[in-house]
Amino acid sequence: MKLKSFILALSLGLATVPLSAQDILIQAGNTDLALRVGPNKRLYQIWFGEALADKSDYSKLSWNVYSGSDGSAAIRGWEVSACAGGEDYFEPALSITHSDGSQATYLVYKNHRTRDIPGGTETVINMADELYPVEVSLHYAAYPEYNVICSWSEISHNEKAAGITLRNAYSPMLYIKRGSYYLTEFSSDWAREAAMSSQQLQFGKKIVDTKLGSRASMHSHPFFELGLDAEAREESGEVLMGTIASTGNWRYTLEVDNAGALRVLAGMNSSDSHYQLPAGQVFKTPDFIFTLSREGKGKGSRDLQGWARHYRLRAGMEPRMSLLNNWENTYFYFNQEKLAGLMKEAATLGVDLFLLDDGWFGNDEHARNGDYAGLGDWEVNRKKLPGGVPALCDAAEEAGVKFGIWIEPEMVNPNSTLFEKHPDWAITQPGRKTYLYRKQLVLDMANPEVQDYVYGVVERLLSDGTPDGDSRIAFFKWDCNSPITNIYSPYLGSKQSNLYYDHLNGVYNVFRRVKENYPNVNMMLCSGGGGRCDYEALKYFTEFWCSDNTDPVERLYIQWGFSQFFPAKAMCAHVTDWNKGASIKFRTDVASMCKLGFDLGLSRLSEAELEYLKSAVSNWKRLQDVILDGEQYRLVSPYEENHMAVDYVNADRSHAVLFAYDIHPRYLEPLRRLKLQGLDPDASYLIEEINLMPGTKSELEGNASVFSGDYLMKVGLNVFTQNAMQSRVLELTKVKD
Ligand code: GLA
Repeated sequence: MKLKSFILALSLGLATVPLSAQDILIQAGNTDLALRVGPNKRLYQIWFGEALADKSDYSKLSWNVYSGSDGSAAIRGWEVSACAGGEDYFEPALSITHSDGSQATYLVYKNHRTRDIPGGTETVINMADELYPVEVSLHYAAYPEYNVICSWSEISHNEKAAGITLRNAYSPMLYIKRGSYYLTEFSSDWAREAAMSSQQLQFGKKIVDTKLGSRASMHSHPFFELGLDAEAREESGEVLMGTIASTGNWRYTLEVDNAGALRVLAGMNSSDSHYQLPAGQVFKTPDFIFTLSREGKGKGSRDLQGWARHYRLRAGMEPRMSLLNNWENTYFYFNQEKLAGLMKEAATLGVDLFLLDDGWFGNDEHARNGDYAGLGDWEVNRKKLPGGVPALCDAAEEAGVKFGIWIEPEMVNPNSTLFEKHPDWAITQPGRKTYLYRKQLVLDMANPEVQDYVYGVVERLLSDGTPDGDSRIAFFKWDCNSPITNIYSPYLGSKQSNLYYDHLNGVYNVFRRVKENYPNVNMMLCSGGGGRCDYEALKYFTEFWCSDNTDPVERLYIQWGFSQFFPAKAMCAHVTDWNKGASIKFRTDVASMCKLGFDLGLSRLSEAELEYLKSAVSNWKRLQDVILDGEQYRLVSPYEENHMAVDYVNADRSHAVLFAYDIHPRYLEPLRRLKLQGLDPDASYLIEEINLMPGTKSELEGNASVFSGDYLMKVGLNVFTQNAMQSRVLELTKVKD
């Protein structure tokens, strides 16, 4: 190994080091997770925390045993895959009912292996029950550059007779022992996504979950922060940040035990889901992705965002397209001419793409002129759009923008031809009064025929009018507006408790096929606003819609919340007419912090507003590599002050963008200077205020001047004002020495 790469390997924590023979070390940069095979052959966590410099020091750690230490099976320790039926009386990682009815499982270590994966190392530890032919492999993918670990379990068996039933299944457990634990959770509802609140955890369990079936969130999101010894802070303190990659029913359980230790479990939600696993089939728990930061939430977020861009998010390293959407402008009421006009507006604005939303499909009595009909009938509405998709693509081409289209293919309105033909393709129970959510039902994705149909929706659209197979649809907005209702899968028959898991895997099968066959079509996830925001779906999607709430003030909170776990590149933010009291500049500056789009009619704007928008779009496109690919520093929280600020810095720290907002400052509120972060202290930066309304000049003290990075980070700038809903965008460019 050359000296340079040896030093790099050491600094990334990749070096091979002596450990005691029965220890397994998962190295994620500044964090190590050390596991030990006990004399009883079971697997225990001996360390999860700051990486020790000398790895042989781990052999000095004893494992955390509460009672009995005679080496017998009666030890209760920090068992990574503690199972129901054993001597551990707290929440188990795995609960299995065996084919003979026994509810007890003991997993012992068999072997483990590691392999290189892009960006890190995957360790697979194979465990098995010695009495029953049940095998569980524990997977840990560690990404040293980003201090991130992604863990999951895979369960399989060979109990031929009746198979086994999984009563619950989590990813491997994590244990933490500190003086106190403070949970920050992210609650949600339509238009109120990613709202943060904190509480101290005391003895007992805190469970957060969803049972929506088809989407990750409605009332809670699949991520949490855990401040250790103090409430999680932005720039200091130890915080565990974890997220479950599941688009369906997930659960995390945080349990403080009798000895004051906290166990962290993340996995499937076992409610109504005791999974009947046939012999030979592998059951995989959702990935649990986590990072342990000792520099607060800010560093944890930057690590997760960087990891996601590089290793998780679809096309995470590719640029994104700005767009104009027609939803709030036209709702269901448009025709070819109107859309062609909007495409021209998109071109005038300078965005990359025009996105046609809901309402373009369904015919005759099933025409989609409201949310009551048409879902499932993915044929263009001949009255509104006689030329079909090819004419729309032609119009977009003529206008000089790309074309994208909305679909919601996992759903069906009972008022549709699809439902009339295939009532058994919907999840719904015959013989009962049907409960409709948004007047629609969820298709039974456990059924492979339905999966083919849903995949076919995309395939047909992409080949429509393109005999050479070279599709002209560049973008899909894939919606999912209803949770699963009327829980009954006609396909699964007597195996109804497998519904949620099999349904979800059916959804993933379709996502996978679409991505494999159409790698160049960008895809936005949407779910009645921000109901789909998880790292399993984001393997297949380039971005997600954060919320139908586009009031810029509300968006400051919503985007602040999602930014804890997701990169700006994945977060769609559109300028709309919500909160007309806010200027077009304020609305656009808020959306410019993320993946920029518009959903408004240009004809209602003044000339100055239109000019402003054009320059804001061109600035955003020019600065996309800083905003979407740079490191994000959250500087002022809207939860704590009447202002908000974030800066983004590119990789070599030569270019940065600062967004600063006044929300509703109090009368004569004293203002403070804003210290920037992430800059090169030794470099000099030219400060320029951009996104100014035509005819106005920057009132920023120091505009067009040069400051050192050191000054900007220690002294800062007076960017805030006492005016409500005002914003400032500053571009910082390193000046050559
Ligand atoms: C959902 C989405 C909206 C829009 C409508 C169309 O509510 O969140 O953005 O696409 O569906 O029906």
